[in-house]
Amino acid sequence: PYKVAIPIQEALRRGEGKVTLRGWVHRKRVLKEKIFILLRDSTGVIQLVLPRDKFKDLEDLNLESALVVTGALVKEPRAPGGVEMHVASVDWVYRGEPYPINEDAVVADSEYLLDVRHLWIRSRKMQAVLKIRHTVFGAIHEYFRKNGFYEVHPPMFITAAVEGGATLFKVQYFDKIVYLTQSSQFYLEALIYGLEKVYTIAPSFRAEPSRTRRHLTEFWHAEMEIAWAGMEDAVLVGEGVISHVVEKVLDERQEELRLLGRRIEPLEKAKPPFYRVSYDEAVDILQKKGFEIGWGDDIGADEERALSQDFDKPIVLYGFPEKVKAFYHRNNPRRPEVTLSFDVLLPEGYGEVIGGGERIYQAEELIEKIKRFGLNPQDYWWYIDLRRYGSVPHSGFGLGVDRLTMWIVGADHIRDVVPFPRDVRRTAP
Ligand code: 4AD
Ligand code: MG
Repeated sequence: PYKVAIPIQEALRRGEGKVTLRGWVHRKRVLKEKIFILLRDSTGVIQLVLPRDKFKDLEDLNLESALVVTGALVKEPRAPGGVEMHVASVDWVYRGEPYPINEDAVVADSEYLLDVRHLWIRSRKMQAVLKIRHTVFGAIHEYFRKNGFYEVHPPMFITAAVEGGATLFKVQYFDKIVYLTQSSQFYLEALIYGLEKVYTIAPSFRAEPSRTRRHLTEFWHAEMEIAWAGMEDAVLVGEGVISHVVEKVLDERQEELRLLGRRIEPLEKAKPPFYRVSYDEAVDILQKKGFEIGWGDDIGADEERALSQDFDKPIVLYGFPEKVKAFYHRNNPRRPEVTLSFDVLLPEGYGEVIGGGERIYQAEELIEKIKRFGLNPQDYWWYIDLRRYGSVPHSGFGLGVDRLTMWIVGADHIRDVVPFPRDVRRTAP
């Protein structure tokens, strides 16, 4: 019987006629003569009205039980969506056990909801977030493909750190130890010599020991690399991809944004050009705000929050000192103490979403900097090798897709935008 059902959204649109619907019991109220069930499917919710005398056996139906029902659609301004169904027959039921989540009673970010994550992902809130996430990923692919980038697929098992050894996850790989990748950057750098403009969207892994609002141990990383390009070229791609994603979400996901209570003005403002703030200016701004920060210090999470609260659209923060950025960043030839690096910070206090810049493209300069950073050139033998055969200036970045989604939906915590988040304490469900 479930084969003939129509989506709830389609039923709300029609508003009349006899149809079959299928879904899950989202809410239930038993009144004197009627049972009201709010039925949910992947497209929305609709109120079902069942005469109590005819459907006595459904009075004790638990939330999340599955149903297929047939009946007449009727316009009813007081019902969600303005339409309800007067049920004539219940064609199929799967009775659920008492449901452990009462959506009204739980705090949205409690540990409990992470324990029952396999169930909580059915909630209307998670439904909306996951639909927006779907649109975000699709829009990233669309942007890169439309702009002449090839999608490539680097390995996840790797043997040398990209972003510092401290956050590498070790994996037993037959008789040796390898690592899970922190970034596909070095592989993208290898791939530009055949394809010139490349991108990938893949998980990255970091053994981040602290539980923060914006760190996961497994996150989705959209990375790109372009040959014949300086830092500014990468900045333009960063502005392009973020504004495209936001535009797409505003276009396709108004209903979900509304359901989540997201203010859309900050999203509407995210159009290029973003603000440009040099590291030097940022230190100045932060000192005036009372932060104890000197030139050469890293810009931490609190500083980023303070900076990004002042601006009504994303900020490109550029020109970081050599020692706060990884070894592969090219130093500015006119000012060697700073690198041709940049971060993009999201407004409203969200902070860093992109890290990138221009890479060192000469072998001697790279080997020298690897040593200066106390690393072993042998660990980077093939990365250095790339500089031996027709190396060219090139730039790229990595964008944290979960962080971008977090800002778009206005979530307090990065965990809220991932179906099964992984952090220092949690690997199940
Ligand atoms: O700034 P990061 O460390 O830069 C790189 O990994 C470069 N190799 C990327 C490149 O140039 N191809 O990371 C890039 C972005 C950050 O700006 C942040 O958005 C995200 O990845 N990110 C995380 N997101 C969630 N949880 C974590 N633990 C993250 N670490 C980084
Ligand atoms: Mg970074």
